[in-house]
Amino acid sequence: MRPIRIALTKGRLEKRSVELFEAIGFDCAQLQNKGRRLILPMEEYEVVLAKANDVITYVEHGACDLGIVGKDTIAEMGSGFYEMLDLGFGKCRFALAGPKNVDFYAGYHERVVASKYPQVARQFFEQKGMDIKIIKIEGSVELAPLLGLAHAIVDIVETGSTLRENGLEIIEEILPISARVIVNMASMKLRREEIERLLADMSVAVQV
Ligand code: PRP
Repeated sequence: MRPIRIALTKGRLEKRSVELFEAIGFDCAQLQNKGRRLILPMEEYEVVLAKANDVITYVEHGACDLGIVGKDTIAEMGSGFYEMLDLGFGKCRFALAGPKNVDFYAGYHERVVASKYPQVARQFFEQKGMDIKIIKIEGSVELAPLLGLAHAIVDIVETGSTLRENGLEIIEEILPISARVIVNMASMKLRREEIERLLADMSVAVQV
């Protein structure tokens, strides 16, 4: 049988994820000196580094058994997997934000919202019964209202400095975000013992 494969999200969550495995006591030497390699051995496991959306795709399809990914990507991409553990790091939140001192809800004109997370934005306004035009933007979403493309944005806010430094403010908080462990549904059945052991280790390590 192949080693249990863990998909890690590259970038912001990567360092904290490696620290978590070190806290468990795993030898992470290969992960720390990875060069350009994408599959790294760690103890009896294989670790894969991928973009957040791809972590979900690999876990959903069973190419990886476990993944560490932000709740933001989970909320956007759906749930064809089990979400097993909140790791408590990578904390931020989804918020609706717009230009300072402008009432987003005033008036009856068509409203346009830009977001890297169109599904999250759509659901948020559906719950409010509001018909909003949503435009997908790939990054630096804060630009959209500044350039007159949108009235507001739905985006991740961590420290709030990007909003502040661009004359924007939070209109409404939408959802708290943190790193989560997701598990492939078939793996959870077929390799339950190994996966539960690993989840238990991770769960102890995050509490320290
Ligand atoms: C995220 C997010 C905001 C910023 C928020 O962008 O989209 O732009 O971080 O952080 P802050 O509240 O601490 O200022 P990221 O840096 O991931 O890049 P992106 O905009 O290109 O997606």
